[in-house]
Amino acid sequence: MPTLRWMIGFLLVSTLLLVALTPYQLTRSRSASAAAAQNSGQQDSGERRIYTNDDFPVSDAPPSSEGTKSDAGQPVAGPKGERVAPFVPTPMEIVDRMLELARTTSKDVVYDLGSGDGRIVLRAAQQFGARAVGVELDHNLAVESAEKAKEMKVDNLVTFIEGDLFQTDISPASVVTVYLLLSTNDRLRPVLEKQLRPGTRVVAHDIRIPGWKAAREEEVTLGLGIHYVYLYEIPGAFSGAAAP
Ligand SMILES: C[S@@+](CC[C@H](N)C(=O)[O-])C[C@H]1O[C@@H](n2cnc3c(N)ncnc32)[C@H](O)[C@@H]1O
Repeated sequence: MPTLRWMIGFLLVSTLLLVALTPYQLTRSRSASAAAAQNSGQQDSGERRIYTNDDFPVSDAPPSSEGTKSDAGQPVAGPKGERVAPFVPTPMEIVDRMLELARTTSKDVVYDLGSGDGRIVLRAAQQFGARAVGVELDHNLAVESAEKAKEMKVDNLVTFIEGDLFQTDISPASVVTVYLLLSTNDRLRPVLEKQLRPGTRVVAHDIRIPGWKAAREEEVTLGLGIHYVYLYEIPGAFSGAAAP
């Protein structure tokens, strides 16, 4: 029965290979996710890394407590929503320029809509003494941001909401920052017009808010890249009603 002997031999070899390779595959995938997590901690390395959604998968874990502040170092649970932009961090030089253009002071309340790793919010608090709120859908990014706030000892000034930027009350803001897609800014415009008070400054990185005229536009060259910063100011006519 040479065929039967051959089949038994084949089965034995396949089983041995499977047993030998499984731990190797597990180790490999663990180190890949550890590298992604470590990478996400690099705030200002000078090099621009393009992150993908795979680096920071959206968690399906239910929020621990709806809409209330949890332990220090943890984000506040907000409403779930749809991802409307990938995570691409704003370089720190541009973060500073955005906050300066908005004339941020310690009297301001800064909201970053889609706050990523929290850099704009943390900078607003640390450098400008402002109170600041980050709204971020991605669980890992929201947790990382809240942990950094604690490490940097600015958790008394900042709040991170793990939730949907379209379903968050942004009316307390005096400065709003965005780095989102054009289609998202277009969807967001009526929300900003409805909720924000006259005099609130809105600063957009690279992507305009369609239909609004910028009070100032700046072009900033960083290495080989050119960045655009747009400053908008909410006029009295927007308050409480959609713009014409
Ligand atoms: C281009 S990144 C900007 C990050 C940060 N604001 C900065 O400038 O460095 C856009 C962020 O929006 C987040 N995002 C996408 N859809 C969202 C939603 N519906 N609600 C809240 N955040 C969202 C993404 O996870 C991502 O972190």
